[in-house]
Amino acid sequence: MSSNDISSVLTENRRFDPPADFVSQARIKAADLEALVKQAEQDYEGFWADQAKQHVNWKQPFSTILNADNAPHYRWFEDGVLNVSYNCIDRHLAEKADKTAIIFEGEQGDVTHISYQQLHDEVCRLANGLKSLGIGKGDRVIIYMPMTAQAVIAMQACARIGAIHSVVFGGFSAESLRDRIADASATALITADGGNRGAKVVELKSAADKALEERCDSIEHVVVLKRTGHDINIQAGRDVWWHDLVAGQASECEPEWVEAEHPLFLLYTSGSTGKPKGIQHSSAGYLLSAIQTNLWVFDLKDDDIFWCTADVGWITGHTYVAYGPLAVGATTVIYEGAPVVPDAGRFWKICQDHKVTVFYTAPTAIRALMKFGDDYPSSYDLSSIRLLGTVGEPINPEAWMWYHRVIGRERCPIVDTWWQTETGANMITPLPGVTSTKPGSCTLALPGIAADVVNEAGESITEANKGGYLVIKKPWPSMLRTIWGDDQRYVDTYFPKFDGKYYLCGDSARKDEDGYYWIMGRIDDVVNISGHRLGTMEVESSLVAHDKVVEAAVVSRPHDVKGEAIVAFVICKDERPVGADAETMVQELRNWVGEQIGAIAKPDDIRFAEGLPKTRSGKIMRRLLRTIARGEEITSDTSTLENEQVVLQLQGKA
Ligand code: PRX
Repeated sequence: MSSNDISSVLTENRRFDPPADFVSQARIKAADLEALVKQAEQDYEGFWADQAKQHVNWKQPFSTILNADNAPHYRWFEDGVLNVSYNCIDRHLAEKADKTAIIFEGEQGDVTHISYQQLHDEVCRLANGLKSLGIGKGDRVIIYMPMTAQAVIAMQACARIGAIHSVVFGGFSAESLRDRIADASATALITADGGNRGAKVVELKSAADKALEERCDSIEHVVVLKRTGHDINIQAGRDVWWHDLVAGQASECEPEWVEAEHPLFLLYTSGSTGKPKGIQHSSAGYLLSAIQTNLWVFDLKDDDIFWCTADVGWITGHTYVAYGPLAVGATTVIYEGAPVVPDAGRFWKICQDHKVTVFYTAPTAIRALMKFGDDYPSSYDLSSIRLLGTVGEPINPEAWMWYHRVIGRERCPIVDTWWQTETGANMITPLPGVTSTKPGSCTLALPGIAADVVNEAGESITEANKGGYLVIKKPWPSMLRTIWGDDQRYVDTYFPKFDGKYYLCGDSARKDEDGYYWIMGRIDDVVNISGHRLGTMEVESSLVAHDKVVEAAVVSRPHDVKGEAIVAFVICKDERPVGADAETMVQELRNWVGEQIGAIAKPDDIRFAEGLPKTRSGKIMRRLLRTIARGEEITSDTSTLENEQVVLQLQGKA
């Protein structure tokens, strides 16, 4: 079926072939894919070695491909030497020094174009500035910045000198920032006075100051970008303005050549316990998959303008804003602000103004903008767009069809890319010039990615549409290497079953009759709010840290824009609040969680009771809580409950 048939298709079996004019120009065509799949199957290591030789610029070539002696700790290309920043910038200078590397647009409309040469010079100046502060290879640098070109410059400068960066999303609170600084024992923090988001100033420096009040003795230097220009505190001896640090620094900085396995960055993500995990990525393996997927999945060519809307605080902003598009020599768009400032047409105006050709966003953004109707997108010229992508959560077919029809104007393939912070790059995704797509399915694994769905015993599930664990059966170059400071947790979390042989990603999935993957949800206590992972335990820990709370349980329920919404069941120390007292307490707790973790973690719904429903062994009955959260009828047996009244209270019936 061709995409022109869309209006005649009413069932869930819709299928969209790549449009012919896309196919004819695509980097990867059906025959290429077939050859790649065959090579990866017949000679797995040879396949990856060829890719690494083809795409990465090595200072010293590697001679070993995969070292699995210490599985599940894998080492790729380990005797190779390289620098990631060199690969992203310097290698393009001979041919594209004047080409625009970054188009930045501030929320207030200010636009800056940065060429590859300018990017090189800025990165080198900052790298030299950081070196002048004594920061070098292996030191951890936290980046807590607004979504600006300087956030990418900061990441690249760290990569250039071999420092390990850890970007903390600017929407996270002082508490979250503090936890990450302390966990990483970071010696430097790069931040800004503030950022512009939602027509307001985000107070980054004051949050950073607050974070540094406790448990952050490792921090010796704070570099502050002047972005908003509003008054902030500068602590003499510790804080230095970015512009002062780079003033007079040379615009050349010899890259620090590092071994392939040298950690490029840590990125904290949620797990099923209260403590975020510092996912550690390598240099060469990560870079390789970043390059490969930008070329294969996003089909990037020399004249492409790629806009991935993700913040650099998330993995998507690492691989598809800060590293991948630059490493392939494309132009990457960075937008500082919110999608609805000044109105819900902002994304489409940016696509029009900068002639974006490839657009990549999250289902939650698509659903939010879809609610404003077709008029906004229809009033902008979106004819430059040739490819669309989504990431972060399953996309519901309705949103997929809107994206296809209203944004893609029925001529652009959509790549629904499944991957994770831990995988570093796209894993299961259509190839836009080859794969027929089905709304809601991330389709097939990339060549060299040994995905499968298995049962409890680790056996492949061959029956179509039967759910199981989504696993990756072989190590791949951009996989995480460990959890910073907690290697045992790495082993226990990702390789707990199947003799430690398969990577367990934590999602359940099914394969349909065509072998297409459909992600069914998480198997652990992790919820996905607007495409961002949150551990329910993290929110619970935050709630019980409030002095009026004794116990809390957090579950999710479906939400039509955010995908999932958080519902918290709370037991207070004093009497159970009701009426106006309950409302005040809800506000207090929402603000508290916002301060402790960040606004994305604020529960949508908080209910109070005198106790939580528990089994006789004292386990909280989470399934029952989920039923209550969804407002569904309770069918399970609640007669074993100590206090059945509790259920009525949680349902709001008592
Ligand atoms: O549950 C899957 C969901 O997001 C999780 C990974 O979250 P995070 O590490 O924050 O990375 C998000 C951006 C890569 C996965 O375990 N997820 C991600 N992409 C998809 C998805 N679920 C369905 N379809 C997707 N395309």
